[in-house]
Amino acid sequence: MFATLQPTAGDPLLALMTAFKADSRSDKIDLGVGVYKDEEGHTPILASVKTAEAYLLETQDTKTYIGPAGAPALGKAIEQLLFPTIYTTSQQLLADNRVATAQTPGGTGALRVGADFIHRALPKAKIWVSNPTWANHYNIFESAGLEVGDYRYYDAANQSLDFAGMLASLQTVPAGDVVLLHACCHNPTGLDLNAEQWHQVGALLQERGIMPFIDSAYLGFAEGLEEDAKGINILAEYCADMLIACSCSKNFGLYNERIGALTVVAANKRDAQAAFSQISYCIRGNYSMPPNHGAAIVSTIINSSELRQQWQQELAAMRSRILSMRQQFTQKLAECGAQRDFGFIAEQRGMFSFSGLNPAQVTQLQTDDAIYIVGSGRINVAGMTSSNLDRLCQAIVRVLD
Ligand code: LMR
Repeated sequence: MFATLQPTAGDPLLALMTAFKADSRSDKIDLGVGVYKDEEGHTPILASVKTAEAYLLETQDTKTYIGPAGAPALGKAIEQLLFPTIYTTSQQLLADNRVATAQTPGGTGALRVGADFIHRALPKAKIWVSNPTWANHYNIFESAGLEVGDYRYYDAANQSLDFAGMLASLQTVPAGDVVLLHACCHNPTGLDLNAEQWHQVGALLQERGIMPFIDSAYLGFAEGLEEDAKGINILAEYCADMLIACSCSKNFGLYNERIGALTVVAANKRDAQAAFSQISYCIRGNYSMPPNHGAAIVSTIINSSELRQQWQQELAAMRSRILSMRQQFTQKLAECGAQRDFGFIAEQRGMFSFSGLNPAQVTQLQTDDAIYIVGSGRINVAGMTSSNLDRLCQAIVRVLD
């Protein structure tokens, strides 16, 4: 039956992960997949997570199903993170019951359920993603039957945000379509909108009748938990309907627990409930119900003032280590004699930067120096440590020559 079937090309990022694992060179450096690493090059389990798990081990008394939309406590915890009290207008959304959240297996699960929901509820809608975007966005949306277009975002010549290009592209998106935006720490460029730019995008989407679908995979990794939610909250001032896919992989370090959530914001309570029931229907027809463990950890942390404070400190420590590595990397490249100005890397936010390295240079770094970088030149800054920085910068300067 499968005799004519050809293997797929596979996801290059997953292939890079496999190649890194298989590499026996002891000084190998992983700047590929978006996973946080500490100064020892290790992806730690947060202490707040460990405490929550110990508590759950003691107190959990059932493993029964939690229903397609998951645990209501998780939904409420996620809504607190997306709509912090400093954004007063958003508080009204919550008070008016215009927001509903379904738990999903990771942020990818949220994106896929959101895509299934769009396909079902808005069958004519096309989805528009930034150019470039996280490569898997295409796979997720096309697998759900959506047509995907792109809008301008990155000015490669100046290694900066092409905001004028972005606005010009969005002006051509038809009413009723959906635009995917990254809440913060844009993957792969590390270039985010400022508050004024979010206002302009919000006004444009509102005027043209376009719905935002916000991918929030790195909340807390750019400026801070509340600051990183500003785009979401500014858009909520303009757009009555929104979808938000949220991941707890990075900010809680819960990668393999697969915990995320899909939040819908609607014009009123009736619409929110209708959308939520359609979302639950999509989930039931897909994986039926989400797993519980990651959700129980996240809601335990958010609902305990002590654990929440500890988690926020741990998140702040991850954020500042990445920021510091950005600065050290820029400085070290200059010290190693780089002819190019890499100052833009210190200005970008989150785990990723577009280094400007081309595919041949990326391959050379992997072959000669066991340095693993995505073919597009995207580097995961969180994979740098004080001890691998010298070797890394020397190798980069060598391939740039
Ligand atoms: C990444 O872009 O590296 C992460 O989001 C991990 C993944 O699944 O691709």
